Amino acid sequence: MPRTIFAHRGLSSVAPENTLVAIGACAENKVKWFETDVDILGDSTPVVIHDTHLDRTTNRTGSIYDLTAEDLEGIDAGAWFGSEYRGQKLPTLAQLVELMNRKELNGNIELKLNGQGAEKTLELIDAVIAELGKLDEDREVIISSFDHLALAEFKRHAPQYRVAALMTPEMLATNWRSTLELMGAEVVHPDHAALTRENVKALKDAGYEINAWTVNTRGRANELLNWGVDGIITDFAHEYVDLEKEP
Ligand code: G3P
Ligand code: CA
Repeated sequence: MPRTIFAHRGLSSVAPENTLVAIGACAENKVKWFETDVDILGDSTPVVIHDTHLDRTTNRTGSIYDLTAEDLEGIDAGAWFGSEYRGQKLPTLAQLVELMNRKELNGNIELKLNGQGAEKTLELIDAVIAELGKLDEDREVIISSFDHLALAEFKRHAPQYRVAALMTPEMLATNWRSTLELMGAEVVHPDHAALTRENVKALKDAGYEINAWTVNTRGRANELLNWGVDGIITDFAHEYVDLEKEP
């Protein structure tokens, strides 16, 4: 099984997280996979952003659920990181898909559902599936979420995509076998802090691919890979990509 290094929110240690410049920079740094967060605006447009509010990563404040696609043009998502990134926008999923095709990048798309209810969950699932249908056939995708019921629903609608259960330390301490089986997950994305040699072996023996987040020291990345973890999600993918090669 090849190892994979994922750029968390794009190359987020060198460019503003979850922007096209941060994700596009993967291609120039031999990083084939990125991780990103997708939520839904008030008008049901899927948008790439981690937070529910604009405050931390843009020049505006307020909830993203009050916005429409037209509003994105007036929001700067780059200047907070550095003046050279002024003009970066919050990307729509459609723009991200176009970038993935153009730069031949593969994506782990996290569905950020934030407890918005069944109707919005289904809207986001349908919208994501529609956009992913525009990817070139060589592009690869993993859909992840902390919302395991939503993941099961996604898998029911689009069984052709791999789904990954995001796991907190608390989830890893429960009966994860039943949960993972019910949702049809092939992949698990645990918080790396909860991983031990023993639970990595148990997950691997149960047949799961494991990609751990968010690993920002090279020593810990090496330790996890040596235990049998398949992938590392990190803010420093450009510095760790050589770890994809087995020693
Ligand atoms: O996908 C792993 C990781 O990104 C989950 O945490 O808060 O960075 O989305 P967060
Ligand atoms: Ca994420």
